[in-house]
Amino acid sequence: MGAREVGLPDVVGSGSLPSRVTIWEVGARDGLQNESVVVPVSVKLEFLARLAASGLSVLEATSFVHPKWVPQLADAAELLAGLEPAPGVVYPVLVPNERGLDRALEAGVSHIAIFASATETFASRNLNRTLDSQFEMFEPTVSRALAAGLEVRGYVSMCFGDPWEGPVARSQVVEVGERLLEMGCSQLSLGDTIGVATPGQVEALLAGFSDVSSLAVHFHDTYGQALSNTLAALRCGVTTVDSSAGGLGGCPYAESATGNLATEDLVWMLDGLGVETGVDLDRLVETSVWMAEKLGRPSPSRVVRALAG
Ligand code: HMG
Ligand code: MG
Repeated sequence: MGAREVGLPDVVGSGSLPSRVTIWEVGARDGLQNESVVVPVSVKLEFLARLAASGLSVLEATSFVHPKWVPQLADAAELLAGLEPAPGVVYPVLVPNERGLDRALEAGVSHIAIFASATETFASRNLNRTLDSQFEMFEPTVSRALAAGLEVRGYVSMCFGDPWEGPVARSQVVEVGERLLEMGCSQLSLGDTIGVATPGQVEALLAGFSDVSSLAVHFHDTYGQALSNTLAALRCGVTTVDSSAGGLGGCPYAESATGNLATEDLVWMLDGLGVETGVDLDRLVETSVWMAEKLGRPSPSRVVRALAG
């Protein structure tokens, strides 16, 4: 049964919500980077094609990171060589440094994302850099990417809590984020890498930035707060939300990071709120069920389980 069939009333206060939300689908990158099995390129290509066919228009495809650090995405060049872009769909890739940028340019990408840490420990574990020296790696990468006409997104990880350092000060996140914006990132994605945030903290963090229009949110669902946090962010003016089909994902360098907010859970909520996404939920669920079979385990998404069941 769908939300429409249940006859849910219009939500009170929906005037403060955007009429449309852009879903930044990260399943093929954040999802697959954390799977114990390495998914064959042919399966990844079919996954991307199915995601595009379900109406998603931003598909983060892979990462040009060191292949030893993330073996699951070591096939990035091969993947992009085999990709037939769907009309109107963009395929951003993660790039940490100039070496990654060279590889991404060779593969013909138009959108990249750099990924910074808000904490010292995660900068070291994820990037082999200090909090400060991560910027020395990003600066030439971003300036060369911009000169080549690419669009650059900046991620900030560990925006609310860090498994080694505990709660993260808002000022620390804002400082890292502002530096990425000053470098020329057109959008900042604020990551709750280990899924510990609650809605009041989301509101407080967003209020720390002068311009919400350049912000996106990236919630992992470890503590089941991702949807509530997303709703809080939308009410603060955010209109781009990251999620992964079927709730795949995590981060190999943060053990307590489980899957991202499931795209199906997000679309179910937004459909119910009358917020447009352009996504055909049934087709997306079919895709996640198909991918779950390939991975040999059921999707953790409640909506996938409910609709597929
Ligand atoms: P490093 O070891 O410090 O690299 O790693 P280096 O600069 O010292 O170079 C060492 C060697 O690696 C050199 O080769 C380089 O050429 C090579 P050599 O000269 O010795 O033969 N190298 C590369 N090869 C291929 N591609 C590259 C590359 N860079 C250097 N791009 C590095 C530093 C950043 C590369 C490494 O730490 C790394 O790859 N980290 C990536 C970790 C990662 O992908 N984590 C997951 C993504 S982040 C995430 O999931 C969070 C997010 O979802 C948001 C959230 O949830 O919060 C985005
Ligand atoms: Mg993530």
